[in-house]
Amino acid sequence: MSRRRILVTSALPYVNADLHIGHLTEHIQTDVWRRFQRLRGHEIRYFCGDDTHGTATMLRAQKEGRSPEDLLAEMQRAHEADLNAFGVFYDRFSNTHSDANRALVAEMWQALRSAGCIDERDVTQLFDPEAGIFLADRFVVGGCPRCQAPGQYGDNCEVCGATYSPSDLVDPKSAISGAVPELRTHRHLFVRLEPFHDFLSEWTQTPGKVPPETANWLRNTFLAAPLRDWDISRPAPYFGFEIPDSPGNYFYVWLDAPVGYIAATKEWCDANGDSVARWWNDPGCEIHHFIGKDIAYFHTLFWPAMLKTAGYSLPTAVHVHGFLTVNGEKLSKRKGTAIFARTYLDHLSPEYLRYYLASKLSARVDDVDLNFEEFTAKVNADLVGKVVNLASRTARFVKGRALPAIYPSARDGGLFAAAAAAGVELAEAYESLDTSRAMRTIMALADRANEFVEAQAPWNLKKDPAKDGELLEVCAIALNLFRQITIYLAPVLPRFAEESARLLSLAGETQWEDAAKPIVGKAVAEFRPLMERVDPAKVEALLAAARAMSDEAAGAAAAGAIGDGASTNAAEGEAFAGEPLAAECSIDDFAKIDLRIARIVSAKAVPKADKLLELEISLGGGERRTIFAGIKAAYDPETLVGRLTVVVANLAPRKMKFGVSQGMVLAAGAGGSDLFILAPDSGAKPGQRVR
Ligand code: MSP
Ligand code: ZN
Repeated sequence: MSRRRILVTSALPYVNADLHIGHLTEHIQTDVWRRFQRLRGHEIRYFCGDDTHGTATMLRAQKEGRSPEDLLAEMQRAHEADLNAFGVFYDRFSNTHSDANRALVAEMWQALRSAGCIDERDVTQLFDPEAGIFLADRFVVGGCPRCQAPGQYGDNCEVCGATYSPSDLVDPKSAISGAVPELRTHRHLFVRLEPFHDFLSEWTQTPGKVPPETANWLRNTFLAAPLRDWDISRPAPYFGFEIPDSPGNYFYVWLDAPVGYIAATKEWCDANGDSVARWWNDPGCEIHHFIGKDIAYFHTLFWPAMLKTAGYSLPTAVHVHGFLTVNGEKLSKRKGTAIFARTYLDHLSPEYLRYYLASKLSARVDDVDLNFEEFTAKVNADLVGKVVNLASRTARFVKGRALPAIYPSARDGGLFAAAAAAGVELAEAYESLDTSRAMRTIMALADRANEFVEAQAPWNLKKDPAKDGELLEVCAIALNLFRQITIYLAPVLPRFAEESARLLSLAGETQWEDAAKPIVGKAVAEFRPLMERVDPAKVEALLAAARAMSDEAAGAAAAGAIGDGASTNAAEGEAFAGEPLAAECSIDDFAKIDLRIARIVSAKAVPKADKLLELEISLGGGERRTIFAGIKAAYDPETLVGRLTVVVANLAPRKMKFGVSQGMVLAAGAGGSDLFILAPDSGAKPGQRVR
């Protein structure tokens, strides 16, 4: 096998936001592939960095009273720290505001100019006269022209789904200053893409360049018609690079962002005595981009056109993944499914996520769901139950002893040889990003190894001194099978391979081929359990923490979502069974009851009250209420935090002995400990009306 030279990148995350587990999905997929190539002995470099430019960075820095440079330095450090915590390490994690990037962007721009593919023309857009800036769509807010729903941002209505031009909004306001925007015209620069049409049709449709789904989408959506010009300039003020030959205009963030891949390479090369040309101008070097489906357009149309024009290598492949969802929901702050890297790390081990994602990901562009029940079951059954267990229940019988000088292959029923042979198929699966198949194959090897241990029952051999030789052989086989499995898992779980090397007193870097070489004669050290079972309580705590953040986000984004805002109340026991049936209630009477989904933010027992819990609930839109509910016998307050329930939101407030109750929680059940108040967390938002 000849040694390949490979450059690999993950998309540059926007500097403005903290990393969440959706971002991590991409970085973990890339990192697993990178570690696999490294294990195979190839020369591989991994580059990434922050995508820094644009109005959002400028506005946030202004709001925080500091320079954009100061903001990005802090975020860059935080992003890299988060990634490192998940085992993802770059050769260089840079940012697009660097000198290296500025120089490379200028060079590419010159190439585009020389190639004659830059045009200029006027663009009319909404302008904020107070802030003095043109407004990107998402910075305009107003009423939906179709359903009149207030507070709609940009060019589509969240309520009725209508799409329109932001200038059609009813009473449009700038989301930045609140000023009424006006239409203004400014001259923009465009890259003409149509001259690249034939080239892009050919390149994108060449098998292996992009996934087949992406190739089809490009063909049907863009390549079937003339390619539209790309507006790449933004007028000042804009945080970015000023266009060298067009003062007062700045490069649009997406023009300089992918150039950041080369800039990061340049910085690394300068620091390590290497040359950019060896990576970006050499047919002997492979270039692999890993990106999400939302940005395929930029990486498969604009980027190849820029690279080609400026004389750089084209990507060997653009690998496109789908989106991560959590328990079937899109990642959304408001739904509490946006789990940030930091929040995850506060509760669960990063290795769990690496394994779970590897077991779900493939080369397909499909979305991937993180279902926490499956997550818990998979990690516990596969990693703890099969892999860790294999070593933990055999190593202890031979601790401190040397393995036999010859591997006892006569006794293993062909298991070692079969697992060594599986390396070929496993390497193919990793190479083609089919890690879900790789994980299944590895777990099948672990199953067979565990069956062997069960059948040989070393715990029985241990009892009979006459069977000591047999015991040593059985354990040597089990530990060798463990070693193979951990090498195959090493791209996903690097610590496992390190542990098996330590356990069997091996020095030096592990290579993929080591899985075909049995270990003999080495001393067995004490086994250190590498992984604990996933504790469902910690998963719950993680989800509760994410939900708590979601209510804050809902408060900021959806103020006013709750119409009447009436305060309401409930008395102890009032809502519950055991009471005589009340007089008939008409449908109109019933319609007066405002039933809403609420999130329980906190719950505590009320001192001196036998039955009451004091709940703080969130109704979204920033609205919090205190409700006293007679449910103490049914619920441990801690288990309620973060959960959804249904409340009567328009009950008049009622003064009780312990405070004012502002609503009533609905419950089913006979009373006492037989009460149920929770609603399923399946996408309902606090404040949403129950029908
Ligand atoms: N800054 C641009 C990329 C520039 S690359 C020259 C960007 N940034 S991003 O922060 O919005 O997204 C970074 C990457 O994370 C993208 O590849 C995007 O597809 C990916 N993901 C963001 N949310 C995701 C999920 N929920 N699931 C999987 N990947 C997701 O786009
Ligand atoms: Zn609407």
